[in-house]
Amino acid sequence: MSAARELARTPATEKAAGDSLRRFTREPYYLPAADEVAIFEHAHANRLAVMLKGPTGCGKTRFVEHMAWRLGRPLMTVACHDDLTASDLVGRFLVTGEATVWQDGPLTRAVRHGAICYLDELVEARQDTTVVIHPLADHRRILPIDKTGELIDAADGFQLVISYNPSYQHALKDLKPSTRQRFISLEFGFLDAAQEARIVAHEGGVDRADAGALVALAHRLRALQDRGLAEVPSTRLLVAAAQLIASGVGRRRASDVAVVTPLCDEPTLLAAMRDLVDATFA
Ligand SMILES: Nc1ncnc2c1ncn2[C@@H]1O[C@H](COP(=O)(O)OP(=O)(O)OP(=O)(O)O)[C@@H](O)[C@H]1O
Ligand SMILES: [Mg+2]
Repeated sequence: MSAARELARTPATEKAAGDSLRRFTREPYYLPAADEVAIFEHAHANRLAVMLKGPTGCGKTRFVEHMAWRLGRPLMTVACHDDLTASDLVGRFLVTGEATVWQDGPLTRAVRHGAICYLDELVEARQDTTVVIHPLADHRRILPIDKTGELIDAADGFQLVISYNPSYQHALKDLKPSTRQRFISLEFGFLDAAQEARIVAHEGGVDRADAGALVALAHRLRALQDRGLAEVPSTRLLVAAAQLIASGVGRRRASDVAVVTPLCDEPTLLAAMRDLVDATFA
């Protein structure tokens, strides 16, 4: 990007890239699936970068928030998109009145503050972002800022975490092996029925019977993947249905608007899913 175009970008763009460090004073609720909490702690202690792989709505973001709280680190989250450049992460010169001032981007702020930096769906970002990620994700732990000539050593506690949804990827958009091999990887999926019901009850404010029924519905719907359902319902959707039920919406209606309708537009599949709702809440 040309310097002129870059200077013209407003601070609002910075906000869109996400630039605030969050500090957790209360524990974000997270129910582990296996040993991921311990593995992450070991990775943190050994200054290893971590990749979280898994479908949407299965707890990746919540896990990072929980780990930031557990490790007592601030958290910087950046939602990556296909227009996100290295400058969006590192920072840029901004014109404020007469002066031109350097403004750190979210990655630089995380590096200076020893924060956990969570790059959500990094694969979406422009290729030039790998240039700044690589030296931070390996033993060097440095961030070179070409535009200012600075070379920053990451503060203690800094840790790079990226997420990756394998089902969205196709041949043209994949992480390069040289990127992948800088991260240890934790796989996320949906928890077993009893555990998922605990989450739905906790997060959605419903009793175990309703939570169990929503999870049973999810299992029936997830089985439709073989019949062409591209995205299966996530724990997030079950929590949304539970919240509607807890606030007085009928069980079938809540399941329809929160779980079934978001999933697809195809009339035959929608009808098949609504039959499963009726069977679940008969
Ligand atoms: N293991 C878990 N413990 C506690 N809550 C969970 C867990 N898994 C899922 N949830 C619930 O599901 C919701 C969605 O999870 P989260 O936002 O972490 O998904 P995600 O994997 O980051 O999805 P995306 O890829 O779309 O960003 C959370 O807000 C939380 O209510
Ligand atoms: Mg997330």
